[in-house]
Amino acid sequence: MKDDISTHSTAQSSRIHDSASKHVTGTADYTDDIPQPQGTLHAYLGVSNVAHATLHALDLTAVRAAAGVVGVLTADDVHGVNDISPTGQNDEPVFPTDKIEFHGQPLFAVIAETRDAARRAAELAQVDCTVLPHALDVGAAQDAGYPHVTAPLKLERGTVQDGFATAPNRLQGRITIGGQDHMYLEGHIAFAIPGEDDDVVVHCSTQHPSEAQHMVAHVLGVPSNAVTVNVRRMGGGFGGKESQMNLFCVVAAMAAKKWNRAVKIRPDRDQDMTATGKRHDFVVDYDVGFDDEGRIQAVDGCFAARCGYSSDLSGPVTDRALFHADNAYFYPHVRLTSRPMKTNTVSNTAFRGFGGPQGVVAAERMIEEIAYATGRDPLDVRKVNFYGDAGRDLTPYHQQVEDNVIGRLVDELEENAAYRSRRQDIITFNAGSKILKKGIALTPVKFGISFTATHYNQAGALVHVYSDGSIALNHGGTEMGQGLNTKVAQIVADAFGVDFERIKITKTTTEKVPNTSATAASSGSDLNGMAALNAVEQIKTRLVGFAVEKWGVTPEDVRFGPDLVQIGDQSVPFDSFIKQAYMARVQLSAAGFYKTPKIHWDRASGKGRPFYYYAYGASCSEVTIDTLTGEYRVDRTDILHDVGRSLNPVLDKGQVEGAFIQGMGWLTTEELWWDDAGRLRTHAPSTYKIPLASDRPRTFNVNLADWSENRELTIKRSKAVGEPPFMLGISVFEALSMAVASVADYKICPRLDAPATPERVLMAVARLQAGG
Ligand code: MTE
Ligand code: MOS
Repeated sequence: MKDDISTHSTAQSSRIHDSASKHVTGTADYTDDIPQPQGTLHAYLGVSNVAHATLHALDLTAVRAAAGVVGVLTADDVHGVNDISPTGQNDEPVFPTDKIEFHGQPLFAVIAETRDAARRAAELAQVDCTVLPHALDVGAAQDAGYPHVTAPLKLERGTVQDGFATAPNRLQGRITIGGQDHMYLEGHIAFAIPGEDDDVVVHCSTQHPSEAQHMVAHVLGVPSNAVTVNVRRMGGGFGGKESQMNLFCVVAAMAAKKWNRAVKIRPDRDQDMTATGKRHDFVVDYDVGFDDEGRIQAVDGCFAARCGYSSDLSGPVTDRALFHADNAYFYPHVRLTSRPMKTNTVSNTAFRGFGGPQGVVAAERMIEEIAYATGRDPLDVRKVNFYGDAGRDLTPYHQQVEDNVIGRLVDELEENAAYRSRRQDIITFNAGSKILKKGIALTPVKFGISFTATHYNQAGALVHVYSDGSIALNHGGTEMGQGLNTKVAQIVADAFGVDFERIKITKTTTEKVPNTSATAASSGSDLNGMAALNAVEQIKTRLVGFAVEKWGVTPEDVRFGPDLVQIGDQSVPFDSFIKQAYMARVQLSAAGFYKTPKIHWDRASGKGRPFYYYAYGASCSEVTIDTLTGEYRVDRTDILHDVGRSLNPVLDKGQVEGAFIQGMGWLTTEELWWDDAGRLRTHAPSTYKIPLASDRPRTFNVNLADWSENRELTIKRSKAVGEPPFMLGISVFEALSMAVASVADYKICPRLDAPATPERVLMAVARLQAGG
């Protein structure tokens, strides 16, 4: 594809992000850029320095007496309900009253004239508590008999015992998969401005304005109509701002109402990383039966996740791990169970892929194990296990895979990346290279699109055409860098047949579109694009009616575009057409709505169609490791990804590239590490390493499958793109595994846990050199 940064308004056009130049010139407004009213106060969180304790009392005398301090907020200031659990489980207090459940847990907030004063004063609290033993990880929690934070899920099809009984081969294994910090460039922030009566306006960085609104209302004890939440844009969210901002919004709003002054809260990076949740780390135990070709006959898998102290979104996250434990493979007999474990750590949350990546990694590990056990190329084992025709098309949750394109994608990538010949070359290279070893892997992705909580699959939009012909667009989705606003504006411009520049992209606000879902599950453009289109269609229907009446034509004679309206053989410029419609008293505003069809899900029986469709992709990565140090680099990556008919190829490619790199970071260098006291020690970029520009693949070929279109009636037959390509990073992990395996002549599948840091790679090499 040429980088055609065209300005015309077809939805297919590769228009750059509407804020791209503002992002790079520093003129894009974020919450912290909003001019502060005089007298704005600043809040900071005071946190616990033990991981688990009975809380007796907080002595905040010294905090209150510190310079610049205006006051403190504690649980006593909650006039409504002291709970911000996003799923209503009542297990996430704003501030705890009787127990401390993780190191770094917010216990109170200080409000001061400056942020610096608030931050210093927050250190001065005396906490009276009795320390209790803590369990930090899944193993310790299981040993200590900790409960699940939410009901586990079981997915079952066929009879695993029968599958194992007839399978010629069987193996068991375990992989531990690390968590991940979101590392958004803009951290959490909320800025509340009090109004009359119960009113408060909160500007913040959230993927879920409606939830923030409802949480603030519920904690303040006021109706939702008193609370307005606004988000112009986020400097990245990645799932970390789906529920985690509730605390900041609530604290800012409580303080704003208490002192009747504007209040801003912005934690520093260390506190942002210690006090807010991350990707769940998992321990996956699998038992798999297969034939001599590597064809899987039965899978029994147990997925235990470190959920942290509260449920947050752990139920749906661990469910999604099970929904993706098949990846692109058919399991004739299967049983999958989740173990959402409570631990004394920060409560883990949504992160790009939402548990799906952990499921997919486990599937790919099983494939690798089978490949080594049968002595076959892992790609061949992948291929014999792909979903196929009737009889091989049912998922563990009994949804039929109807839109499978994985075979074609993988074949094309295998060919274009010259996988077979390069693999041969690599095996030859390794035979002659003592210290440097190479590996290559080609891994597929199949990812289900829709929120698994069916009611979230709805969206609204509000479109106004002003009498001068300019158009204001508002929808329930939020912009976090992914380009959602650009895509939805393109859809609106295209439907009206007008120039993109006519569309004003506005902030997301609960005042304009109510009861929205989080911008999450990659469904932003699917849902909001459709809702906006619905609003435009309503206005167009009225405009056509007006033209028919005024010009005496048939509805078919009225056509929109380019930037004019064709009425029979007359062309009327859009502006003047709209002016005339206004003068004729045509309503030029509409609220649009959309809900995803076809989906249903019954969690109790583990059956249904939770996903409207699947997005697919494949990547092939080649790496080189240094067997003396464990260091490595990615030499080349080729990607072929399916976005259906792309709404915007440059934005989609940007998503694929970014997601791949973020996925690679998760599986390679990004390591979260807690000490024995339960303190997160990797809480800043100094110790937590995300990929740098210099870590990108030396050769990076990214392509969209231009032949693909969504067989379902999605917006312009496109497919969601935000999360699925994250799992393309798995090819790097499995390529590292092959490089490690080379030191023992590829006889043994290396025990490699994620992240495969240089340290882990080195240990895996040493283990194999020592004989397995
Ligand atoms: N891209 C950027 N630049 N920044 C982000 O925070 N979040 C990802 C993905 N891509 C994210 C991103 C996640 S977790 C999701 S669910 C989707 O974008 C959400 O947006 P969408 O539904 O509009 O794709
Ligand atoms: Mo994305 S994890 O669904 O915000």
